[in-house]
Amino acid sequence: MNQDDMKKEAARAALEYLPDSGIIGVGTGSTVNFFIDFLAEIKHRFDGAVSSSEASTERLKAHGIEVIDLNAAGEIEVYVDGADEANHQLSLIKGGGGALTREKIVAAASKKFICIADESKLVDILGAFPLPIEVIPMARSYVARELVKIGGTPALREGFVTDNGNLILDVHHLKIMEPNKLETQLNDIAGIVTVGLFAHRPADVLLLGTPEGTRTVLPA
Ligand code: A5P
Repeated sequence: MNQDDMKKEAARAALEYLPDSGIIGVGTGSTVNFFIDFLAEIKHRFDGAVSSSEASTERLKAHGIEVIDLNAAGEIEVYVDGADEANHQLSLIKGGGGALTREKIVAAASKKFICIADESKLVDILGAFPLPIEVIPMARSYVARELVKIGGTPALREGFVTDNGNLILDVHHLKIMEPNKLETQLNDIAGIVTVGLFAHRPADVLLLGTPEGTRTVLPA
């Protein structure tokens, strides 16, 4: 079984968590793309989706799934999204695809967050994957200096602009021992729009695709 097969397994397993009706929150990334393809097969069962990126919106619409503005959706029952890393408390690093801001908003507006990933994403300590941070363009250098002060090595994601017109700094060399504390600290830096650390709002369930089938991980 290759990595894509494992992603697909996890995506399929998320279908079990969907409500019988209403609106579904949909994340972004290659694992979520499998999930969207599965959703298309049961689109008669729900009213539509709130999307976390232009890319997911396009894929949802291509399948004939209605995309609903979050402002019109109210509270969402279930949000399904991938991750770049997850620890055993289900705190996550997200934003490898650059959609972290909208992902964080939809996750916050949802009752339940189901994270889907292949088994390589589960780690003991977050930070081997560079932490994506969305910044307002004029604050790029200032924010980068502040990130160096806390021990990170920020790198501008070259040639990339987010769906919100901002930049991404990928922060290397962080060993994230206290994700909650770091998220709070980074949120305080002027010019940062969103930190790709999901510790204040972690996932509720992690569905990990493995060669032996899907493993369900709950927060330790
Ligand atoms: C998108 O911005 C990210 O947060 C993705 O959810 C994350 O990068 C996981 O992507 P894959 O499913 O492609 O690994």
